[in-house]
Amino acid sequence: MSAEPLIKQEDILKRVKSLAEEVAKDYEFDTVVGLLTGAFIFVSDFCRAMPRKDLRVHFIKASSYGGSMQSSREVKVKGLDSVNLEGKKVLLLDDILDTGHTLSGLVKMLKEKGAQEVRTCAFLDKPERREVDFEVDYSGFKIPNAFVVGYGLDFDDDYRAYPDIWTLEEE
Ligand code: IMP
Ligand code: MG
Repeated sequence: MSAEPLIKQEDILKRVKSLAEEVAKDYEFDTVVGLLTGAFIFVSDFCRAMPRKDLRVHFIKASSYGGSMQSSREVKVKGLDSVNLEGKKVLLLDDILDTGHTLSGLVKMLKEKGAQEVRTCAFLDKPERREVDFEVDYSGFKIPNAFVVGYGLDFDDDYRAYPDIWTLEEE
């Protein structure tokens, strides 16, 4: 792990609050869909910081990484069958936007479930890593091309409970 956090808890929480206010002003969504497992803390903080409380919140499981630092490019989804999105205005939340395969794939799937509109919000964005033509509607921080952990983000399911965001160096 890096000697110093890349983003400290205090700055994370400030940004989550301003991001929630920014999205609330811009988009009248009624449904939050959070991606497990990485976004579990971000979604919790975001919903509490959101000025509007008339929201439905769902979590679905999306995975593309497994125990590796490279994306497998194939998005697997669990838990979407039981979620009703017919006519809903959805805000899809993820921890980090990397190659773009996960969010771009998920937007298509949520629209196929009948969502009226789907916008995306990623807490972190690594623009240099993009492999598909996709941009998020809202993001917290743009970060350089490094593997990061903490604040819900993992490497092989470790580090999720760290309150700050850290850079993980490859060995
Ligand atoms: P994408 O499909 O390549 O955009 O990948 C997005 C998913 O990969 C995110 O939901 C994360 O779970 C995971 N991911 C991408 N970069 C990192 C990272 O630096 N640390 C931890 N997980 C990451
Ligand atoms: Mg993830």
